[in-house]
Amino acid sequence: MKTLILNIKQLVQTELSPRKWVAGKDMARLGILENAYLLVEEDKIAGFGKMEDLDREAVYAGGDIVKEIDATGRLVMPSYCDSHTHLVYAGSREIEYIDKIRGLSYEEIAKRGGGILNSCERIRKASEEELFDAAYDRIQEIAGFGTGAVEIKSGYGLDTESELKMLRVIRRLKAETPLLIKSTFLGAHAVPLEYKGRQTEYVDLIINEMIPMVAAEELADYIDVFCDKGFFTVEDTDRMLNAGMKYGLRAKIHANELDYSGGVQVGVKYNAISVDHLECMGEEEIACLLESETMPTVLPGAAFFLNMPYSPVRKMIQAGLPVALASDYNPGSSPSGNMKFIMSLGCINYKMLPEEVINATTLNSAYAMGVEEEAGSIAVGKLANFYITTPISGIEYLPYAYTADLIEAIFLKGEQY
Ligand code: NIG
Ligand code: FE
Repeated sequence: MKTLILNIKQLVQTELSPRKWVAGKDMARLGILENAYLLVEEDKIAGFGKMEDLDREAVYAGGDIVKEIDATGRLVMPSYCDSHTHLVYAGSREIEYIDKIRGLSYEEIAKRGGGILNSCERIRKASEEELFDAAYDRIQEIAGFGTGAVEIKSGYGLDTESELKMLRVIRRLKAETPLLIKSTFLGAHAVPLEYKGRQTEYVDLIINEMIPMVAAEELADYIDVFCDKGFFTVEDTDRMLNAGMKYGLRAKIHANELDYSGGVQVGVKYNAISVDHLECMGEEEIACLLESETMPTVLPGAAFFLNMPYSPVRKMIQAGLPVALASDYNPGSSPSGNMKFIMSLGCINYKMLPEEVINATTLNSAYAMGVEEEAGSIAVGKLANFYITTPISGIEYLPYAYTADLIEAIFLKGEQY
């Protein structure tokens, strides 16, 4: 079975030879083919090019069934890769949203037992089935927004049993949804109440019990630590990443959201696949990332929702760094997984160009979650994960029309979703 999409106005993020990421000035460049076709075979992209170069006989050779779709006036975009989410959670936290409106800070809410600990209490009470059902709905929701790959973290269980429960839910999502999913163990998201004042003992529990059990069941692809003021120190982080590494878990960390925490440096020391948030970035952090294979990842939804200072993205790109954008979909700091809105926030709040936000939400975010060989661009051999827009003028219209859906059809692993 083949699908042939014809007369595409703009085929976006095309690559003749896949790259692992784009950085610096190249972030403003995007492979775009005008008046193009795209050929899908089974779950993969089998070919693409200009309409005038389409060899119809070759497509139909061998008597294959070919479904044709006319995309006149429409764009074809690779699906978004959302490289940072916490979309397995129980309940919601709109009460804290009101607290925030009344002027309490994220740290103050956390100190009052709100924040992550609030979600912790609820996740411990929820059954695996309930968590799966709620997360499954969120997966459907983000698939409808155009996301084709998503990284999901644990981190609301904060005890061995509940962390494993969350990771098993993610494992089931991997098996039962067409999205490409990576899972991250985030036992070090916060110190649970029962370990209050005994942070080092909680870190020991993560190292001696949780990590070995997560690894034994092969429940995680990555290990994450919230390395920031009021959460885990550089020393804690170093110990946990070191333990994770011994079990084959590559680091992917929360760093420098609340302070110059040293999170970037310790992440790079362990060759983290990404360091995420990055509101507090100085020359030292930028220089450190320039020497690394670590993807700087900015989460515009969390900064917008919490009304925080914005990460200096222009400075980072100017220095020659790549940047990825992700949604951080979670009940506390970013209750939205809409990557198109993330692109708009990237343009409006971080002064990124449309080409830059598209690179940041596709190719670069694919790297940030380790799926750059399968997703993130239109390249032969990659998964056929893409969407067809409604008739629009061009790529600029996507972030510009910041709440319009603009999606007409979605393909995941070659199947219309
Ligand atoms: O990425 N910064 C730490 N963790 C989450 C917030 C999670 C929560 O508040 O529930 C984040 O923003
Ligand atoms: Fe997060």
